[in-house]
Amino acid sequence: MNEQLTPDKILQTGLAFWASKTLLSAIEMGLFTELSHGPENLDAIGGRLGLHPRSARDFLDALVALGFLNRTGERYANTPETDLFLDRKKPSYVGGILEMANHRLYPFWGHLTQALRTGAPQNETRNGGPGIFEALYADPARLREFLAAMTGISHGANMTIARAFPWKDHRTFVDVGTAQGDLAAQIALANPQLQGFGFDLPEVAPVFEDYVAAIGVADRLRFVPGDFFKQDFPQADVVLMGHILHDWDLPTKKMLIKKAFDAVPAGGALIVYEAIIDDDRSKNAFGLMMSLNMLIETPGGFDYTGADCAGWMKEAGFSSTRVEPLVGPDSMVIGIK
Ligand SMILES: C[S@@+](CC[C@H](N)C(=O)[O-])C[C@H]1O[C@@H](n2cnc3c(N)ncnc32)[C@H](O)[C@@H]1O
Repeated sequence: MNEQLTPDKILQTGLAFWASKTLLSAIEMGLFTELSHGPENLDAIGGRLGLHPRSARDFLDALVALGFLNRTGERYANTPETDLFLDRKKPSYVGGILEMANHRLYPFWGHLTQALRTGAPQNETRNGGPGIFEALYADPARLREFLAAMTGISHGANMTIARAFPWKDHRTFVDVGTAQGDLAAQIALANPQLQGFGFDLPEVAPVFEDYVAAIGVADRLRFVPGDFFKQDFPQADVVLMGHILHDWDLPTKKMLIKKAFDAVPAGGALIVYEAIIDDDRSKNAFGLMMSLNMLIETPGGFDYTGADCAGWMKEAGFSSTRVEPLVGPDSMVIGIK
């Protein structure tokens, strides 16, 4: 037995779902929103969240040990991060994706082995029936949860795209599959000369309109209802697609890239952003696991490398391409016509 080797990382990763589920249950019960009013002792929190006395202290102290709560004497408080990002009342709330992970992804990932063996999705569509978006959009509460979750997972990248891309050379843009509209809103906020469209399924319209109005850019952003399997994209100088191509199989990816090519003028651009996998497929673990998440969630979706996407863009006719890192595991692939 080689004494340098230890099983630590293996055991930590294997049991990492303990920490995840402890945090997800705290978010589900609204713990950090409750503590945004100020520090509280065990009995007060336990009472408000309905915690059984058998494990209430272990639960809160586990969150202290994980670095999501502070404790001074007998009083528990949010950390600066959990107070800013996990208080539902704050615009900086990123818990949407974690609420959806708790409700949907956590139980679905329990069937990963079956998915790896069958190639079949393990979400609401597991026992046949409508696709993920039809299933989700049939229920307004789940629609809102899903669309808010998308803002949670994309907000960091959206803020960077709004500032990193040379928008001064352009006048119009369209965000295809815009969901709540956070990317469109961040681009409009940072670039007063731009007019934009959010293109998505009709059920999304009220959620988009509420969101961009709340951010104060509704005068320069318009929602265009449509189905990208049936309609062409609205014409614009720049087309954006975030977390869209990974939802679909290769022929659909290529069809969407071709529609983007047809929607922009010469000199126009297509910006695709996701957790783009590194070309050597050995570093961006989140991007690779996101591709496993597409196995769980879709009949044919998968994530891909920058080189893959650049190749599909060239095939569609884009004359030049480049890959630029954004934030965390995310990057954008830019195609110029
Ligand atoms: C995974 S979400 C990505 C949302 C957002 N772009 C982001 O990155 O956070 C996929 C989006 O595609 C939209 N979508 C799915 N099928 C569509 C279709 N056939 N036509 C138009 N939009 C569609 C969904 O409504 C949803 O907003």
